[in-house]
Amino acid sequence: KRVAILISGGGSNMIALARSMEGAHPARPVLVLSNDPSAKGLERAAAMGIPVAAVDHRPFKGDRAAFEAALVQQLDAAAPDVICLAGFMRILTAGFTGRYAGRMLNIHPSLLPKYPGLHTHQRALDAGDAEAGCTVHEVTSVLDDGPILGQARVPVLPGDDAGSLAARVLVQEHALYPAVLARYVTGDRRPVLL
Ligand code: GRF
Repeated sequence: KRVAILISGGGSNMIALARSMEGAHPARPVLVLSNDPSAKGLERAAAMGIPVAAVDHRPFKGDRAAFEAALVQQLDAAAPDVICLAGFMRILTAGFTGRYAGRMLNIHPSLLPKYPGLHTHQRALDAGDAEAGCTVHEVTSVLDDGPILGQARVPVLPGDDAGSLAARVLVQEHALYPAVLARYVTGDRRPVLL
């Protein structure tokens, strides 16, 4: 199976996914694509020998469809079977999510359906939650929604701030996403619960 990974920044989740595919694995990364040409993850992917590309979203200003058409051009050239959004920070239109329906995943740093959107860790702290975590889900036209394919939970500890909680969750993201992908590419849709 051919896997394309979309990133916007450091790409730590992309690295975890790529490393998980290095051994005997039914999938391999065929493209790492970013909306930011300066994304550190692009250099890190290239250093692992993975083809990289960038489509800077800024010249497109508000024209999401035109930006997405440029993404589609890069993606279709790589002909992925599965697309993994990994720290990808642009909202995608229904046209794009519809094109890849049933074969696009995302990781979100909360226990969905709680806290879709941004600032998830601060919101969990503000709510006094005892637990936090991350979710891998199939991407639909509704932001941070879609069938849940995996979740990992962490305790919220006394003295936690958004940064310390994010760091604890990120460790679980790096375990969860590869576990979900390994199962997903076999056609198994049972959720991974860590
Ligand atoms: C992570 O918290 C991820 O859940 C969110 O973006 C953050 C950075 O991801 N979507 P990465 O290090 O770029 O993979």
